[in-house]
Amino acid sequence: MRRLDLAAPETFETFAAGITAPIDVLINNAGIFGPKPHTIADVGPALFERILRVNTLGPVLLARALLDRVAASEGKKLVTMTSRMGSFGANTSGSAPMYRASKAAVNMLMQCLSIEVAPRGVGVLLLHPGWVRTTMGGEQADLNVADSALGIRRVIDGFDPTERLALRAWDGRDLPW
Ligand SMILES: NC(=O)c1ccc[n+]([C@@H]2O[C@H](COP(=O)([O-])OP(=O)(O)OC[C@H]3O[C@@H](n4cnc5c(N)ncnc54)[C@H](OP(=O)(O)O)[C@@H]3O)[C@@H](O)[C@H]2O)c1
Repeated sequence: MRRLDLAAPETFETFAAGITAPIDVLINNAGIFGPKPHTIADVGPALFERILRVNTLGPVLLARALLDRVAASEGKKLVTMTSRMGSFGANTSGSAPMYRASKAAVNMLMQCLSIEVAPRGVGVLLLHPGWVRTTMGGEQADLNVADSALGIRRVIDGFDPTERLALRAWDGRDLPW
């Protein structure tokens, strides 16, 4: 196992240089929520920058650093854990704006990346794991980790990289952008 701080992109090239094997499925899973709850009143530069570094910049720059390994694999799947909260179409409450914005932005960057990497046969999957009883999701969440993980595995297995791009939930349903 190797550790990586997703908020430290200056370390990614060295990290990637240490990986020579092909990567069938790269999963960008790590994320932070920010204060719970938070509203527009809580938006501040340092806090927002931290959330953007981990949720937005980190996944994109790590995917870029490891792209050759993914393109050299049979699987060719580049997966990022996003959230339904990053959807413009599904936003009715306006809660947690910094988290929402970080996920909306990673969706856009990954969409751009999907266009760039399509000629290499790499597909980009943006995956919503459901509302899950993890540290982030909390005890009130709908889903246990095992059910979410099983769904995530099915969705990743069923994703065909020639599809190029999808925004999909753990249960296989596509989400509104
Ligand atoms: N749980 C939900 O209901 C839910 C819903 C929608 C989307 N998501 C998304 O699903 C993903 C996983 O969330 P989760 O529920 O498992 O969250 P979690 O319980 O809070 O766990 C977050 C994970 O991210 C890691 N992490 C945080 N900052 C990091 C950094 N700078 N560098 C490396 N790793 C870092 C943490 O590592 P340490 O333990 O070492 O800090 C931890 O393993 C996230 O992207 C989240 O936004 C979750």
